[in-house]
Amino acid sequence: MKGVILAGGHGTRLFPLTKATNKHLLPVGREPMLYHPIRQMVGAGISEILVVTSTDHMGDVVRCLGSGVDFGCRLSYRVQESASGIAHALALAESFAGGSPICVILGDNVFECAIEPYVAAFRGQGKGARVLLKEVGDPERYGVAALDEHQVIEIEEKPKNPKSHFAVVGLYLYDARVFDIIRGVEPSARGEYEITSVNNAYIATLELRYDICKGRWTDAGTFDSLAEANRILGGNDNRILDHDE
Ligand code: DAU
Repeated sequence: MKGVILAGGHGTRLFPLTKATNKHLLPVGREPMLYHPIRQMVGAGISEILVVTSTDHMGDVVRCLGSGVDFGCRLSYRVQESASGIAHALALAESFAGGSPICVILGDNVFECAIEPYVAAFRGQGKGARVLLKEVGDPERYGVAALDEHQVIEIEEKPKNPKSHFAVVGLYLYDARVFDIIRGVEPSARGEYEITSVNNAYIATLELRYDICKGRWTDAGTFDSLAEANRILGGNDNRILDHDE
């Protein structure tokens, strides 16, 4: 399995912190934000990782992360020219993936506990897709999963009237067909190629499974959530917890 970290966009909600740097290089605890998804992937046995970022601060991202040798992995980079959505950024990973299944992490997501068990579950699943859900108090900010007893029946992106409190967090596991699926995605009303459309395509073929995220989780895209990310990782000196801790 290969890893893809999506770190494009302009971080406008964190302006002026993002005036001179990329959101994903801001400090979280003792480290730049992007160290966390890399450490999560390496901990899950993924050693070939692509980082997708915008033109804005690509040089700084490469300067910060280098070849990956400091993390025990091999890093590659691609530029997303316009912030046209998460699925648009992911499409840039097709040749890198080369037919392998992929683990995708949004570069502003922070997980208190290791993602390794979810990656292992997807290795066992073999095909289709797997997402991670977390119960939140403000579901309208996220992709929201409607569930029946056994499965996700629909995901809505930032719904005004959410059907549950389960947010779809920024960890996605896909088989190699994801790139064909992205080719069929149309831009949403806000003009973005949504990852939610990709996940709904897997739901339509009954191939999307899910886990519930253990431990604390947040994105770090707003001032409040960046503060929460600092509490989560800073409180553990940036150490990722095992599930039995
Ligand atoms: O954090 C989880 C949420 O992330 C999900 O629940 C939503 O379904 C998903 O759409 C996303 O929502 P956000 O509104 O938080 O996404 P945002 O635009 O902040 O982008 C999140 C990360 O994705 C960002 O840190 C970098 C990457 N990204 C985003 C866009 C729009 C890209 O690499 N390229 C892009 O064009």
